[in-house]
Amino acid sequence: MKIDEYKKYTDGYKEQIDAELKKIIGELNYSAEFKEVLEYALLSGGKRLRPILMLEWHNLFAPADYYALRYACGLEILHAYSLIHDDMPCMDNDDFRRGKPTVHKKYGEGMALLAGDALMDLAYRILSMPTPALEVGPFCLFKDMCGDAGLIHGQYCDLYGKIDNLDDLLEMCRHKTGALIKLACISGYALGNNLDYKKCKALFEAQPSGAETAATDITDDSLLLNYALASGFGDAFGAAFQLYDDISEYIDGEKITSTSVMNYVDLDEAKKMLNTLLNDAADTLEALRGDTAFLRELLNRFIII
Ligand code: IPE
Ligand code: IPE
Ligand code: MG
Ligand code: MG
Repeated sequence: MKIDEYKKYTDGYKEQIDAELKKIIGELNYSAEFKEVLEYALLSGGKRLRPILMLEWHNLFAPADYYALRYACGLEILHAYSLIHDDMPCMDNDDFRRGKPTVHKKYGEGMALLAGDALMDLAYRILSMPTPALEVGPFCLFKDMCGDAGLIHGQYCDLYGKIDNLDDLLEMCRHKTGALIKLACISGYALGNNLDYKKCKALFEAQPSGAETAATDITDDSLLLNYALASGFGDAFGAAFQLYDDISEYIDGEKITSTSVMNYVDLDEAKKMLNTLLNDAADTLEALRGDTAFLRELLNRFIII
């Protein structure tokens, strides 16, 4: 896929996502002042990586539809909550995000704390909404990838965990950042295939040791294979994404946090780790039928040479 084609493709997704996010915030019953804070956190920039991944995995298996878009926005809202809290003085104490003052810098800490809370609450409500084909939204099906098996646990390890070696560090990256990215991929796949609770649960529980457990419940081999591909892609790219963030901050001369990969390995080694993970993600696409040109191009954007 050529660069301008890729940009057009992502801009198309972003436009839909941003319009829906604006609508979702507009419909809330909070005061106009508080809604302005939520809009500031949600609508002032952002690559929309997680919702785009979710929609792409969905659209590889089904025509685009409103319920997928709504779900994708739920993921972005969850991401936005995590960023507000991550930047606060009690966590990373950052004054700028996306080139603008962080939410607590602009509106104060109380407002930032509440805005994070409000977005987390909103995200869970959206992600658990039924669709015409599914009584339970797929978010509820994948254990707690935003809590004790994912993002919050990862953020805990980042702030308070004992990270003794590179393996501990990668594990932390997989939780704090990778889990939400993986969730985007597998839930896009699940919504695109109208997988109900029982099927999703069996598929999820079969990972990562292989498809044996699920095979007892699920007899459709292509369903199993494609789920494993979405999951493998999300796993590898999710970890790669955090390494990319850490390496970019180092190259740009920004402050390096104690849990940056750059405190554990040198630049060459870090790039090697990143590129290996990106290759692993690309390998999972080999077996996928359908047009994977966009996902391949997306991976290319994260290679650091
Ligand atoms: C930043 O995520 C936080 C990490 C998990 C590293 P993004 O780089 O996706 O943030 P935005 O939404 O595009 O600003
Ligand atoms: C962010 O990790 C992870 C979450 C917000 C869950 P970082 O703290 O490393 O990301 P940046 O550098 O602030 O975007
Ligand atoms: Mg952090
Ligand atoms: Mg941070």
